[in-house]
Amino acid sequence: MRTRPLKVALLGCGVVGSEVARIMTTHADDLAARIGAPVELAGVAVRRPSKVREGIDPALVTTDATALVKRGDIDVVVEVIGGIEPARALITTAFEHGASVVSANKALLAQDGAALHAAAVEHGRDLYYEAAVAGAIPLIRPLRESLAGDKVNRVLGIVNGTTNFILDKMDSTGAGYQEALDEATALGYAEADPTADVEGFDAAAKAAILAGIAFHTRVRLDDVYREGMTEVTSADFASARQMGCTIKLLAICERAADNGSVTARVHPAMIPLDHPLASVRGAYNAVFVEAEAAGQLMFYGPGAGGAPTASAVLGDLVAVCRNKLAGSTGPGDSAYTRLPVSPMGDVVTRYHISLDVADKPGVLAQVATVFAEHGVSIDTVRQSGKDGEASLVVVTHRAADAALTGTVDALRKLDTVRGVASIMRVEGE
Ligand code: HSE
Repeated sequence: MRTRPLKVALLGCGVVGSEVARIMTTHADDLAARIGAPVELAGVAVRRPSKVREGIDPALVTTDATALVKRGDIDVVVEVIGGIEPARALITTAFEHGASVVSANKALLAQDGAALHAAAVEHGRDLYYEAAVAGAIPLIRPLRESLAGDKVNRVLGIVNGTTNFILDKMDSTGAGYQEALDEATALGYAEADPTADVEGFDAAAKAAILAGIAFHTRVRLDDVYREGMTEVTSADFASARQMGCTIKLLAICERAADNGSVTARVHPAMIPLDHPLASVRGAYNAVFVEAEAAGQLMFYGPGAGGAPTASAVLGDLVAVCRNKLAGSTGPGDSAYTRLPVSPMGDVVTRYHISLDVADKPGVLAQVATVFAEHGVSIDTVRQSGKDGEASLVVVTHRAADAALTGTVDALRKLDTVRGVASIMRVEGE
């Protein structure tokens, strides 16, 4: 074994970074044996240097992240600060000064993955980011390496733990959105500003990364259709239950069978209770991958949290260090197919639409006519009501999203339709 250590710079020492440092220290001998050389924490860049960080030599702590990545003797930079800047500049500078990079930064990878990969290639370095998607769950490497000989057609999953916790709480206790969010905040799942999670930005970034790797193409955050889950109500859960379903915030990346395009989307959806994703509880994540030869694979586990995310970071660190010792780099960007990304309007799925209508002769026929005029076929209709007003629940067969949008716009214009209470996609059947 080589005795000269590989030097690691840690950018960020929060929930994930502190766990990375802890595992590097407590598992130092095993890591050295697995890599073939010791790994040494050579510097830790933080914003608040006065904070006491157990197990970290204060002499390693600096507020000057740029100087740390420019040192020239750093082998691997671990970036766990998140956000676009200064993370992007620091990663680029790290490549320029000879380091490989391990990152957990989904927002940056989803927005600028192509440029970062290009910078890594230009400087002959590695860029690994298993921790950017679904915490501890191995997904990037299975897609990039284990399934490299197969053709992935679909990736469907729960990739945000906070929103899964909230939806699970609403489903299992009847709590409203705000009550469930408050509990998620109290337990440390939701951040003080939960927007990235509850509005689906976090899941959309992960969907962009997964779609790009799965389909060997370029999918950016802006290509991902996104709806958050803040509008999901207890009434939606009651409707879902009547259909034998629950509601999950899903990330869905699909290859269109007919025209070779791909789509990526994040939105709440009803899924049948007997679908494996329905039993993913609390803050857990799970992702289905459907590949031509492999069939259906499911990846399940903790998708967030310090130690689980650090596990993924450490796995990447070991891989990158091994590559370094071998004088090589691992598999990089593979976006060679350049497939077009279709808009949401082209996505075909089923819909559950809840309408408030006048309960009088001809209303059902009027509503049905609007669906027919837009080429949307109705599967089931359920009506309940009293005092001249009714609630109408329509579940459709598969239809294009654009056709459904046209249908709903036309329904809103009918005098007899008092309001559209909810529209939810139905997936996983
Ligand atoms: N906030 C994310 C979640 C974890 O709740 O799943 C980091 O991606």
